[in-house]
Amino acid sequence: MARILAIESSCDETAAAVMEDEIRVLSSVVASQFSVHGKYGGVVPELASREHLRAIVPVVREAMERAALTWKDLDAVAATSGPGLAGSLLVGLTYAKAIAFATGIPLIAVNHIEGHIHAVILESRQRGNPVEFPALALIVSGGHTHLFEALGDGVYRLLGRTRDDAAGEAFDKVAKLLGFGYPGGPVIDQLAPYGDPHAVRFTLAHMKGNTLDFSFSGLKTAVLRCVESRDLAAEIAGRKRLLKENSRPSVEDWLAATPQPTRDLLASFQRTVIEELLGHAASAAERNEGVRSLIVSGGVACNSGLRAAVTQASAGLPVFFPSAALSTDNAVMIAAAAFPKFRRGEFAKLEIAAEPNLALA
Ligand code: KG4
Ligand code: ZN
Repeated sequence: MARILAIESSCDETAAAVMEDEIRVLSSVVASQFSVHGKYGGVVPELASREHLRAIVPVVREAMERAALTWKDLDAVAATSGPGLAGSLLVGLTYAKAIAFATGIPLIAVNHIEGHIHAVILESRQRGNPVEFPALALIVSGGHTHLFEALGDGVYRLLGRTRDDAAGEAFDKVAKLLGFGYPGGPVIDQLAPYGDPHAVRFTLAHMKGNTLDFSFSGLKTAVLRCVESRDLAAEIAGRKRLLKENSRPSVEDWLAATPQPTRDLLASFQRTVIEELLGHAASAAERNEGVRSLIVSGGVACNSGLRAAVTQASAGLPVFFPSAALSTDNAVMIAAAAFPKFRRGEFAKLEIAAEPNLALA
């Protein structure tokens, strides 16, 4: 039997989880900094590292208490070593190093993106319907938009990545522009069904070179131009007021503050992002004939429009999404990614540095 404590602190969530034997989650704790960054319309790196420093000890302690374990019950400690915000990564990785040093157990460094992939692999195994390899893996979050071929045993081939903004970042920037606060993905997701997704025709980016690369900055600029061409100042101010009075407005509150043309704009924006993502996944599936499944993970994988549209775009491949709890950042996914490394004896030296730009392939 092996038990691993994992820590995730790459962006704005401080998370710890304990897993046993690659399949059983003994505990999972996530402290979100939502309320800290919300008013800035995005993550402020300096505030994020300060909040991680505050949260790391209680979050790890709670994960250990909920798992009813002490340090001597652990076989390894894992932490995200990159990619992510330098100061944020440093907090979780340093704490994991301290635990490894003090207890003598090995340290395992995990790539955050590999964590998102393993969230899906774990849940598919828990359901008794495991992901089959090779698999396409579309990782879509606030920081990343990557398409990989996952060959199994920790081997990945990068097929495409964003050349500018990440998909989640585009959601967040459009939401901020329109006064919907941060994070923007969940709000746009909730309001999109109330708009006409074909009302505004945005053109999809045509990539020179690798056509499986993504680009979202053109779309973001197109939304900005659209907003500038309409007189939206009053309604945007209204939504900002709403957000000041109530940090988590309901769908009804948002709808009351969002006239139909803006609902249409949101729906059209979301449809375009989904088309860009799924179009690339479908092309990759056509080109890689041996591929047996499609994994979609990361915060944007929560998007209900994306989930609804994926089946027709998957070219018959079985599609695997994480549950909502494992879509956004968490430490269960880091523990799940750490187990194969534990089996292979892939341990990190205590001198290992955080790598904000760490690549998976
Ligand atoms: O994976 P994650 O928690 O953190 C990163 O690694 O970046 O992803 C957060 C991102 C944010 O940009 C957020 O707006 C987006 O995921 N997101 C969504 C939804 N829920 C979260 N985007 C679209 N639709 C959603 N339902
Ligand atoms: Zn993430």
